[in-house]
Amino acid sequence: MSGGNVDELREHRAVPGTAAPLDNAGLVSRSISEVIATRGRSAEAYHPAFAQLWKICGERISGGKRIRPRLMLDMFAALSDDDLPPAAIEIAAAIELLHASFLLHDDVFDGDLTRRGSLNLVGLLAHDERLSHERPSPQRLHWARSCGILMGDLLLAEVHQIFARVDVEPAMRTRLLDLLAHAITESVVGEQLDIGLEDGTVVADTATVLEMCRLKTATYTFELPLRAAAILAGADSPATDAALAAAGAHLGLAFQLQDDVLSTFGDPAAHGKDAFSDLREGKETAVISAARMTSAWPEIEPSFGTGSLTNAEGERLRGLLRECGAEAFVRGLIDDQMRALHETLADPASGLPDSARQPLAALAGRLDGRRS
Ligand code: IPE
Ligand code: IPE
Ligand code: MG
Ligand code: MG
Repeated sequence: MSGGNVDELREHRAVPGTAAPLDNAGLVSRSISEVIATRGRSAEAYHPAFAQLWKICGERISGGKRIRPRLMLDMFAALSDDDLPPAAIEIAAAIELLHASFLLHDDVFDGDLTRRGSLNLVGLLAHDERLSHERPSPQRLHWARSCGILMGDLLLAEVHQIFARVDVEPAMRTRLLDLLAHAITESVVGEQLDIGLEDGTVVADTATVLEMCRLKTATYTFELPLRAAAILAGADSPATDAALAAAGAHLGLAFQLQDDVLSTFGDPAAHGKDAFSDLREGKETAVISAARMTSAWPEIEPSFGTGSLTNAEGERLRGLLRECGAEAFVRGLIDDQMRALHETLADPASGLPDSARQPLAALAGRLDGRRS
């Protein structure tokens, strides 16, 4: 959905056959579905394999927590007295599409075939229905991963289309596009560092691992929606912009560290990813960089990054990572970030508008103790 005005949006809110208006999450979902449906219809003019790609993408794109669009719309409501304009829904939907694009690429980098409790797009394409009991062949995996990269590219292009066409003043659109470019650059640098750390190309130390986490996750997950909301609300003074970026960095670093703790120590039924994929892959998370500094590391190292790691061996590594204090250390880092966020929220000189403090505190509360 692009262009339009508030009245048109209100008309759209009535779901055919029901009187119930769509809430914000429903409006974002509908905007995403419309984008995918439009692109899916155009894809039918090409080879069936291309149309199938959009079909699978449409199926896989649901099921996430949708924290990014929700954060953007909550912050818009906090900063503006106006009704939610269509532009805000479109940008919120585009930020979720950006996330979907990054996840497609990330699952290829990380060799993951599952996400959100089931096969991801790569996993579905790699799976040969005639040989369902077999591991995917190298050719099939190559096809599936290539399709994942291509679909990620298409979604990224779609995000740019939405930002470039959004119905706002040209100066506002330019600020949104610059913000998007900043978020994409930092996310790419973060993913590059993540892969370099894992491969040993980039030297692993805790400071670099934390900076990698901020870049790959905090910028697009928190800073982008918060600052986009302020731009759309016309509340993006330099002081507010900087304060929202700082709050986003604290929240985002805490969120990524939680993701790493959950991936290693959490319940796979709740987080929906392969239980030991980080350990099998040899991912240089903050948990691992903390463990490297302990006397337990020589016992952990031989199995860490072993592609054939069994579940029993994974559980043994998990026990060692817990006993050596690495889990507690990273939980302490998460607490540090949450404390820093609350200090910013309590500081009258932080540059945060008063109305922005409550939604940020509420979000921090929701993240505390998250299991997925
Ligand atoms: C997962 O993000 C990737 C990270 C940035 C840590 P989410 O935890 O928001 O994933 P979904 O969308 O809810 O599955
Ligand atoms: C998170 O990557 C950042 C992005 C997806 C850009 P991770 O590899 O750490 O996240 P999960 O564990 O796959 O969700
Ligand atoms: Mg990953
Ligand atoms: Mg990754």
